[in-house]
Amino acid sequence: IYHTPELTPEGKVPDCAIAVDVLRATTTIATVLAAGAEAVQVFSDLEQLIQVSEAWSTEKRLRAGERGGAKVVGFDMGNSPLDCTPERVQGRRLFISTTNGTRALQRVQNAAIVTAGAFINRASVVKYVIAQQPETLWIVGSGWEGSFSLEDTACAGAIAHSIWQQTKLSLDELAGNDEVMGAIALYAEWQNNLLELFHHASHGKRLLRLDCHEDLKYCAQMDIVDVLPLQTEPGVLKIV
Ligand code: MLT
Repeated sequence: IYHTPELTPEGKVPDCAIAVDVLRATTTIATVLAAGAEAVQVFSDLEQLIQVSEAWSTEKRLRAGERGGAKVVGFDMGNSPLDCTPERVQGRRLFISTTNGTRALQRVQNAAIVTAGAFINRASVVKYVIAQQPETLWIVGSGWEGSFSLEDTACAGAIAHSIWQQTKLSLDELAGNDEVMGAIALYAEWQNNLLELFHHASHGKRLLRLDCHEDLKYCAQMDIVDVLPLQTEPGVLKIV
C-alpha cells in the first residue's frame, strides 16, 4: 500500500495496481461505468483534457473537472458520483480530471493491470485481483496533494483485508509490511462507521464545507456496485 502516488517507488511498476480515491474520483469512476458510460478517460491536466475531448461530439462526451473539491468552471460536471445518472451518461465517454485521483491513475498507468477501487466496488476489485494472482500488487491511495488521507487508507485496508481473508494468508505473511498492517487496523476500527470516519477526515471536512453531505453518504457504502473498471489503454478505463 502506498498512501499517495508520490510515495510509490520511482522507476518501478507492479503487475497490478489498484488506484483508490474514495472521496471521490474512483467512486465516481465505478459509478459512471455502472450507469452505462462507454469509458472513462483520465487526465491530470485540464488543458490536455479539453484538447483530447475536442475530437468527440458533445453528444458523445462529458467533461468532468474538479479542483479543491469544486467543479471547474465551463465543464459539464464536477466530481460528484450522484451526477452520474444513466440518463446523463449512457453511451458517453467521461473525460475527467481531479485534484488527486486521476493523478494516481496516471502514475500507475504502465502496470500490466490497472483498476480503480473504492468502498462501493471493493468486492468486484478483490475478486478480480485474486483470480489474476499478480506477483506484485500496489494499492495506491490518492491522498491530498502528496499527503496521507484517512479514507483512502481505510479503503486500501478494506481491500487488503478481504484479499488476506479470502486467500487465507497467515498473519506472519503480512508481518513486516507496516503499511498493510496499519491500513487493515484502520479499516477494522472504522468498518461499521465509515461515514463518521469521513466526517473526521480532512477531505471529508472540505467536502462538507462544500455541502456534499449526500456524496459522503454514497461513498461510505460498501460493495453496492458490481463493477470492475479496467484500464484498456493508458488512461482509459472500461468494463471489459
Ligand atoms: C481528488 O481527485 O482529489 C478528489 O476526487 C476530489 C473530490 O472531488 O472530492
